[in-house]
Amino acid sequence: MVVGMATLTEDEIRAIAAGYHEDPARSMSLRAEAYTDPKWHAVDRQSIFGRTWQWVCHVEQLTKPGDYVSTTVAETPILVVRDRSRRLRAFYNVCKHRAHELLSGSGTTRTIVCPYHAWTYDLSGALVGARQTDQLTAFDKTEICLDQIQVEEFCGFVYVNLDPTAPPLARQAPDLAAEITQRAPDIANLTHAKRLHYDVRTNWKNVIDNFLECYHCHVAHKEFVSLVDMDTYDVKTHGIWSSHFADAGTSENAAYDVSDATVTEHAVWWLWPNTCLLRYPGRGNFMVFQVLPAGPDRTVETWDFFLESTELNEAEKESVRYIDEVLQVQDIDLVESVQRGMSTPAFDQGRIVYDPARAPGLSEHGVHHFHGLVLEAYRSLVTGSGRTADAEAPATAVQATARS
Ligand code: FES
Ligand SMILES: [Fe+2]
Repeated sequence: MVVGMATLTEDEIRAIAAGYHEDPARSMSLRAEAYTDPKWHAVDRQSIFGRTWQWVCHVEQLTKPGDYVSTTVAETPILVVRDRSRRLRAFYNVCKHRAHELLSGSGTTRTIVCPYHAWTYDLSGALVGARQTDQLTAFDKTEICLDQIQVEEFCGFVYVNLDPTAPPLARQAPDLAAEITQRAPDIANLTHAKRLHYDVRTNWKNVIDNFLECYHCHVAHKEFVSLVDMDTYDVKTHGIWSSHFADAGTSENAAYDVSDATVTEHAVWWLWPNTCLLRYPGRGNFMVFQVLPAGPDRTVETWDFFLESTELNEAEKESVRYIDEVLQVQDIDLVESVQRGMSTPAFDQGRIVYDPARAPGLSEHGVHHFHGLVLEAYRSLVTGSGRTADAEAPATAVQATARS
């Protein structure tokens, strides 16, 4: 485990799970302190971000031996590289000499050279050069190598997991790849074209809550509800992911021009805990919206666009502008307001609005599903809970099928 080994008591779990019910029709939302108290921020980092698959990049950035990408996961610097035998490897991006970070940004390299004192590692992580160490006694550089972490290619993207015992993502989300491939068969041919970046004054779980329901869409996103056919909006929850689909025509709408669209549906997947995968109406496209906690009341969001070309056409420029200047502005206003509200004595938790049979698009069962997974992660920190990180489908994850 990368962060301190905090544990929780049964009483703490009972308190934070108060009001939550496995039946979404009888459940309250997760309690406000989980969103405002620094203690629960630390618990999130340990019990959730230290143990789950975290999105890194499109596999296009790691095709040739020597290609690398550095990033941080749960505030931990990590490095992904394609080694000489074309195997993908991930390491803590931390030098074994005095802990300086090794590579920064992304690119292609023959070796991994530390910028501090130039210790040099090969692409499999073995230390192959350490200046002025020949005369040292009891120092064998062949015994030193970088600490590896788990890495996996999944549906055209690269993910890492800091938990060495975590089962593969493909096994944890067994049907997700097939569903994404069916609706977005062109991911491998798409290229990174644009990144949007946001620093938001809210807890990361408020961003996910907001992402997982469209109950607010008619109220807060009048352009969006003209882009998609809300009567077809469907939300289905599965073990550690949920899908959010709606038809979207080629007709005029208030969001952006879709008259030449080859993709005519709105297909979105949320992958526990913080990765949102989206395919919007338009040309071939796939987007990754990643939600990264930066403090109890601060979240960094990145929105990456993978398109048919790095040159955006006019419709794509319009759709990026819509997402950046309309949709995101609306959603960020909402989640920042919610954070302020949660920080007052006037709010502990609220009722989950559940009506998947009559109006799946307006039902909050996706939020309830997320809260169940959060509480299950918290329970894993109870001393003697006996739960190991390889549980594939948490017991409280409710399989809510909106339209069966
Ligand atoms: S910290 Fe890396 S070589 Fe000294
Ligand atoms: Fe929204």
